[in-house]
Amino acid sequence: MSVHKDVKKVTTHVLQEMKNRGEKISMLTGYDFSMARIIDASGIDVILVGDSASNVMAGHETTLPITLDQMIYHAASVVRAVERALVVVDMPFGSYQGNSKEALSNAIRIMKETGGHSVKMEGGEEIIESIKRILTAGIPVMGHLGLTPQSIYKFGTYVVRAKEEDEAKRLIHDAKLLEEAGCFAIVLEKIPAKLAEQVAKSVSIPIIGIGAGNGVDGQVLVVHDMLGINNEFSPRFLRKYNNLYEQMFSSFQAYISDVKSGDFPNENEQY
Ligand code: KIV
Repeated sequence: MSVHKDVKKVTTHVLQEMKNRGEKISMLTGYDFSMARIIDASGIDVILVGDSASNVMAGHETTLPITLDQMIYHAASVVRAVERALVVVDMPFGSYQGNSKEALSNAIRIMKETGGHSVKMEGGEEIIESIKRILTAGIPVMGHLGLTPQSIYKFGTYVVRAKEEDEAKRLIHDAKLLEEAGCFAIVLEKIPAKLAEQVAKSVSIPIIGIGAGNGVDGQVLVVHDMLGINNEFSPRFLRKYNNLYEQMFSSFQAYISDVKSGDFPNENEQY
C-alpha cells in the first residue's frame, strides 16, 4: 500500500515511513502562491522554498544575496497555498553560520512568520552546533551536503563534488553526524550516484538527491528548471518536463499581435 496516496498531510514521520517502505519521495521547489497551489494539488510530497529563489526569482548569479526577510516573504506565500505537502524553508546564507544563538532566532522567525514546517541548512560538522540548537527548539531540520551552493566561492565551480576519496569520506561522516543530531532528511546535491546510494544505505533517514542518481530515497528539482522556463540551464541531471519558455514566449507574442491588430478584445470580451 502506498503511504503517499493515503496521507492528507505529509509530515516528517510520513517521509520516514516512505523510506522504511521503499517508497520514493517527490520534492520540488516553490516560491510563490500560484505555482505552489498547482504543485501541491499535483500531489507532491515536499515543497522546498529554496534559496534558489535568489537565482530564478530575483535574477542573482548565486544564492548568496537573498535575505532572511525575502525568504520569509516567499515561504509565507507558499504556505498560504499548500494543503498537503511538507514545506521546507531554506535558511539563507549568513543566517546560521555565525553562531548558534543567532541561527536559532532566525529559524524561529522563519517558523513564526511563514507557518512553514521545517528548515534546511547547508553543511555538516562545521554547522552542527547550530543544527543541534535549532532541533532542540523542536524545529525539524533537513540537511544539505555535496554541492552546497552557498559555498560556491569556496568551491570555485559547480562541478560534481566528492569524486575524491577524502571528500567522499567526509561526506559520509557528515551524513552520519546529521542523522545522529536528529535531522529528518538530507539533500545530496551533485555527487556520484554510487556514493549517494552508499549514503542512503548507511543512514536510516531519507536521502533526497539532485544530480545524485537513482539509488537514493527521493528526488528534488528546481521547478523553473524542470518546466523549461529557464532555457539556458541544461545540466545532465535535469529532466525537462515541458518547454514553458517557448510556450510563454509564443503566448506573449500572440497577445502583442492581437493588441496591435485590434483583434483583442473582441465583442465577447468587453462589457
Ligand atoms: O535552493 C534550492 O533550490 C535547493 C535545491 C537545489 C535542493 O537547495
